[in-house]
Order: sequence, then C-alpha cells, then structure tokens
Amino acid sequence: MTLDRLLRAATARLAAAGVPSPAVDAELLLAHVLGRELADLRRARLLGEPLPGGEHGATGTAYQELVVRRTARVPLQHLTGTAHFAGLDLSVGPGVFVPRPETEVMVELALSALEGIERPTVVDLCTGSGAVALALASRRPDSRVGAVELSVEAHRYAAANVRSTGLAVDLRLGPAQESFGDWVGEVHVVTSNPPYIPPGAVPVDVEVREHDPELALYGGGEDGLDIPREVASRAAELLRSGGVLLMEHADVQGRTLPAALMETGDWASVEDHRDLAGLPRVTRAVRAGRP
Ligand SMILES: C[S@@+](CC[C@H](N)C(=O)[O-])C[C@H]1O[C@@H](n2cnc3c(N)ncnc32)[C@H](O)[C@@H]1O
Repeated sequence: MTLDRLLRAATARLAAAGVPSPAVDAELLLAHVLGRELADLRRARLLGEPLPGGEHGATGTAYQELVVRRTARVPLQHLTGTAHFAGLDLSVGPGVFVPRPETEVMVELALSALEGIERPTVVDLCTGSGAVALALASRRPDSRVGAVELSVEAHRYAAANVRSTGLAVDLRLGPAQESFGDWVGEVHVVTSNPPYIPPGAVPVDVEVREHDPELALYGGGEDGLDIPREVASRAAELLRSGGVLLMEHADVQGRTLPAALMETGDWASVEDHRDLAGLPRVTRAVRAGRP
C-alpha cells in the first residue's frame, strides 16, 4: 500500500468522524508514527513511496490505532505528545491544557511591552505546560522569567518542558493568587491565560470539553471572571508602577474584563486587543503608580 492510499483512507475516516482538519491530522499522525518531518512525508507521498512493512505491519497497525483514537476525538496533540507553540515543541498530554495558537498574540504583546527594558522580570500566572513563560524566555534570554501552576499534573509537564528546552524559567507549584511573594513590586510584565469560561458556556469541541482539564477551563462566578479577577489582583501586587498586565479572555469578555479591572483602581489604563481572527482576546492594563 502506498503512503498516498493510506492517507486518503485515513482522511476519509477522520472526516466522517467530524474531525475539523482531517487531511492534516492524517498526515501529522503518520509523520509521528514514521518519525519523519511533515515536509519529508509529503515528498515521499508525492513520489509514491510504500508504507514500510505494509498495511498489517507494526507501523501500519500503530497508525490505524492512532487514527481510531482520533476519530474518538482524542486531541491530536495528546496522540503525538507534542504541541507547537511560538516556535517551541512542548510536551503535552492528559492533565494539561494544550496551548492554542491564539495565545501567541499575548506573547507578542508581552514582547512589545518589554522593548527597551534591559534584564526585565516577567511572571506568567497559570502557566499550564509553561508555553507562554518558555516562549518569553526563548525570545528574551536576558530576562528573569517566573511561572506558577496550581495543578500537580500540569506542573509536571511544565517542569519537563523547562528541562527539554533548557530555558531558564523559575517554575513554582501553587495558587497564582499567592505566588512570587519574594518578587512583589519588582515585575515589569505579568502574563496570564487563566481559566475564564463562564459556567453555562460548555465548549462545543469534544477535544476541549472532554480532554482539557476542568481546572484549566472554568473561571468561576456567573461571568467566568472570578479567577481572572483574583489573578489580576495578584498581578497588581507583583507589578512595579507602569508595569503591564496582559490577560487572555473569552471573545465575549472583551468589555467585561477591562471593566472589572478599571473598577479596582489598580490600573492607570486598560485596553483590549483582538486576535488574528479579529476576536477580542487579550486585555492590556498598565499598573497605576504605587503609593
Ligand atoms: C487556560 S489554561 C492556560 C495554560 C497556559 N497558560 C496556556 O496558555 O497554555 C489555565 C491554567 O491555569 C491553571 N490554574 C487554574 N487555577 C489556578 C490558580 N488558582 N493558580 C495557578 N494556576 C491555576 C490550570 O491548571 C491551567 O493549567
């Protein structure tokens, strides 16, 4: 059997199961099983290469097993064990939130806020796999980067990612609301992609609803903003005067989160930014002068 025939059959099965990008997922799973780069697999496919060992060999069997699990809507990144984020390959799986491309907007806004500051201090609250903290550490190697995560399982992935990337991140385990007591008033930029989904807004995608941990999703309170409010309050304590908070939120919270921050009196200015799809996504708040 050729790679092309195998991929066509797998794509059809994934499409029938409602997988959103069946052709790419079929290719990425096969590249994973074969241990080849995607571009290399695509070249081999065009050249009419056969599947090593045939359809019923070890590779063919391993591939079919992954395709079946993907038809059950297990996230692609759980099957490959890897998520790509801001140019990094991060280890992910059950128990940790899979980092999303839209969160890269927050990384870019943080990098802009850090421009012109030498050896800045940055903290990522609710770090999950460590994606945002590691992206900032790789793009600003002169910075002191801290990150905190409450879930033991997620923290384990973050620690593995700190080790595998070799990037310098001071990773801690515990509630963001009480974190980095030793850095209070010293931080230039705080980033956070906290849990923020309102209780009634159960995610449509099976991959999210059944595989991202609940602790990563629901923000608490009627508007889903209880935890984001608490995390922003901790950010206000950590930041120096003029320091910047960048917080991701749901597209329906583009007005409510900025309004909630303005109410506190902690912030001199608050504005909201859209993601690449044009949806409200990140609130940027500048710390008011500290007494
Ligand atoms: C939406 S996920 C984001 C993860 C990561 N920042 C990212 O963008 O991929 C939210 C994360 O916050 C963690 N979390 C929830 N409540 C927390 C708290 N009170 N303190 C620290 N982390 C918390 C969850 O376990 C989860 O890993």
